[in-house]
Parts: sequence; structure tokens; C-alpha cells
Amino acid sequence: MHTAEFLSFFYQAAPYIHAHRGKTFVIHFDADFADSYLENILQDCAILQSLGIKLILIHGIRAEIDRNLAKSGIISHFSNDKRITSKEMIPEILNAAGSVRLKIEAVLSMNIVNSPMQDAEVKIAGGNYITARPLGVIGGCDFGYTGEIRKINEFAIKSALSDDEIVLISPVGYAPTGEIFNLDSEEVASTIAAELAADKLIYLCEGIANLRATERLHQLTPELAKKKEVENSGIRRRMRAAARACEEGIARVHLVEKDNQGALLQELFTRDGAGIMITAELYDILRPATIDDINHIIALIRPLEANGTLIPRSREILEADIDKFYVLIRDGSIIACVALYPYTQEKTAELACLAVAPEYRKHRRADFLLEQLSQIARQKGMESLFLLTTQTAQWFEARGFSRIEIEELPEKKRAKYNRERNSRAYRKFL
Ligand SMILES: CC(C)(COP(=O)(O)OP(=O)(O)OC[C@H]1O[C@@H](n2cnc3c(N)ncnc32)[C@H](O)[C@@H]1OP(=O)(O)O)[C@@H](O)C(=O)NCCC(=O)NCCS
Repeated sequence: MHTAEFLSFFYQAAPYIHAHRGKTFVIHFDADFADSYLENILQDCAILQSLGIKLILIHGIRAEIDRNLAKSGIISHFSNDKRITSKEMIPEILNAAGSVRLKIEAVLSMNIVNSPMQDAEVKIAGGNYITARPLGVIGGCDFGYTGEIRKINEFAIKSALSDDEIVLISPVGYAPTGEIFNLDSEEVASTIAAELAADKLIYLCEGIANLRATERLHQLTPELAKKKEVENSGIRRRMRAAARACEEGIARVHLVEKDNQGALLQELFTRDGAGIMITAELYDILRPATIDDINHIIALIRPLEANGTLIPRSREILEADIDKFYVLIRDGSIIACVALYPYTQEKTAELACLAVAPEYRKHRRADFLLEQLSQIARQKGMESLFLLTTQTAQWFEARGFSRIEIEELPEKKRAKYNRERNSRAYRKFL
């Protein structure tokens, strides 16, 4: 790789490295003992962990169970894509879970010179994190020892994560009576992600690269994911699980090709990604503001001007600057706004007047706006964003902005700086 290429890749990845550090990701992948891609996936997971991401890995065992049952001559029956588990299947399921788990532990313990695992020193935690109950009889079908999660030991999982351990969870759960239940691993992943309020849920799955390429499908809303007709039952199950997870509060669920080396890293550290993202954020549409939006923008920002959070802007100023404003629309109403003032000569742009309506806050809409405006600024040839703030410094710091001196602002902005307001200046390179 040429130096320029390397630097361009590294500069593109750097904001993501920063943004993901300290975050909790739940990653699900189906695995069988003979899976040739397991090593690639786990090497990438070890890299994520070394970048400070807290990882919970949930492994599926469907293929390994099928193999074991076939060897023992036990026939499986399914209802609604779920296996009906009989008592005689339990030893085969435990055997599958044990062998896959041990294989994963062995791969994560590798320390091969000149490989991504060199000096990784991964610690793995596991245990009786899941209390389960039987799924019972649904639509007349008795699911036997197929179970669902009753509760998870959130404290134990969180304390393992805070000890820098990778939490590895198999899709079996225990009842207080000592019975063992076969669980749907995709559901285990979505439930754990939702209960722990994970930052991301990622499903590694065969066929995603093809679906993305043939249908040019990069993003979907949970609603569309639920209805999406896909022949591949693995993708279908994950689309449904992803939609449920979004509805339960996970902002972004990613479906990533399992068999493409590096697809996971590409999805997480590049702008275009490599998979399909399911996110409720798409319900909101970001568009440039028009003169007709002014009354709505005023309604949104006046209370914030009154309490000193935003600098007051007269209607005349808003009218004159309306081409700098963007609005976020949900169901026809403006629920957030932001402005971008480019300083073309200095290749920097001011982010201003960021406001989300109070009832729509805490759903990462401001994060979404910041991401979108960063992209727009980049397209306009800007190399950095800057802003002035009195009360929201921490929010911007957590998103990679650093404090700068007022003297570092573009000259025209500096000239207008209001010393009395005493705002602090922050900058982020794009
Ligand atoms: C700041 C603001 C834009 C965030 O919008 P949002 O859509 O709720 O943002 P996100 O969902 O991406 O982030 C929410 C997180 O930011 C935190 N946050 C909100 N305001 C904050 C502030 N002033 N300082 C630090 N953190 C803040 C929330 O507590 C929440 O934290 P949590 O996820 O740990 O619960 C919104 O609170 C707002 O409109 N505030 C008033 C206007 C303002 O301050 N604008 C910035 C002008 S410089």
C-alpha cells in the first residue's frame, strides 16, 4: 500500500476508532467446529477489543446441532423457523455448544507471530448468564425444550466487560429447576443487546454481500426489515431480530457478510461500510431548510435562546441565512435543526444552532445530524468543523471535538466573537 493510500485509510478510520472506544458491541455469528471463517471473524473481534470496544460474542450452533443429530439419527422438526427440541436432543445440543465454544476459546487464545492475534492476550468470560423458561405451546405446537430468555445476569456480564474480558455466550439457558433449554441465538443476541443498552448489535451472516450488491441495499428501517422478503432464511431471521432490537432501543443494527475477510472492520471503520444497517433513524428525513420553515425553526430555538443555550437570531437573520440551515423532519414536522456556515478559504465550517425538540432527544438524532453535516461539509471540501458553545461542550467533546483558542477561529468569525457571552470554541477534523 502506498503511503498516501495508507494515510487516507487511517484518517478515515480514526474518527470511528475514537467513536467506538469504550462502547459495547454485541456480535452474533453462527459457527460450527469446522467453520473455516471462524478464525477471520475472531481475529477481527480481537482487534476490536484491542481498540477498547467492549465485546459480547453470541455464537449460534445450528449447523453443529444438525450434524450431531444426523449422526445420532434424530430427526428435527421446525415451526416458524424454530427448532422443536425433544429431550433426546439435549445431549447433542450440549455437545454442539461445548465443542463450538471450546473452538472459539482456542482461536481467541492464539498468539501467532505476524498475525493479527500477535500479543492480543484475550481474556474470555462465560457462565450461567441466562435464566430461561420453556417457550411452551404456541399455536398448538409444543416446543419442548426450546426456551426463551427469562432474565439475564446483567451485573455479571457488565463486570466481566469492565475487567476487559470478552463475554462469550452460548445459546443455552438454565432454569432454576436445573433444566437446560435450547435458545434461538439470534434472539439471545437481540435480547442481551437491548437489556444491556448496547451501542451496536451486529449479525454476521452469509449472503449479505450479495444482497447489498444486487439490491443496492445499504440501509433499512426496522419496519421494512420486518417485512423484507428474502429467500435465505438465515437473513430473514436476522432481519426480524434486528427490527425487534431497533424497536427496543438499539440505534443501529448491522448485518455483515460472514465469509468476507475484513467485512466487519470495513463496516465499522469506513464511511460506506460493507453491510446493511437497520436503523430507525431513517424515519427522520434531513433536508435543506426553506423560507417556509422559519416559523417552525423559531418555535424550536426561541426557548433555547431565552435560556442562553443558543445565541439569539432575529427573524431577519434567519431569513438571510436560511440556505445555511438544515431541518430534520418526522411525519411532516420539524423536530430538529442545525446550520452549517462554510469558510471556504480556511476549509473549515461552523456548526451552529444545533437543536433537537425536547420530546425527541436522547435518540441520537443530534449524533445523526452531526454525522450528516460532517458528510455535507466534506463534500464541500471542508477539512474541519468548528463551533462555539456555552453549555454543550461535553456533548461535543464526547464526539471528538477538541477545545481551541478563539484566535484559531477564521478571522471573520473572530471579529464577530462576543466576549461577554464567553463561549468556548471547539474543532474537529473531518
Ligand atoms: C444537545 C442536543 C442537541 C442533543 O440532542 P439529542 O438528539 O438528545 O442527542 P443524542 O441523543 O445524540 O445524545 C444524547 C446524550 O447527550 C447528553 N446531553 C444532552 N445535552 C447535553 C449537554 N449539554 N452536555 C453534555 N451532554 C448532553 C444526554 O444526556 C444524552 O446522554 P445519554 O445518551 O448518556 O443519556 C439536545 O439536547 C439539545 O437540543 N439541546 C439544547 C440545544 C443545545 O445545547 N445545542 C447545542 C448548541 S452548541
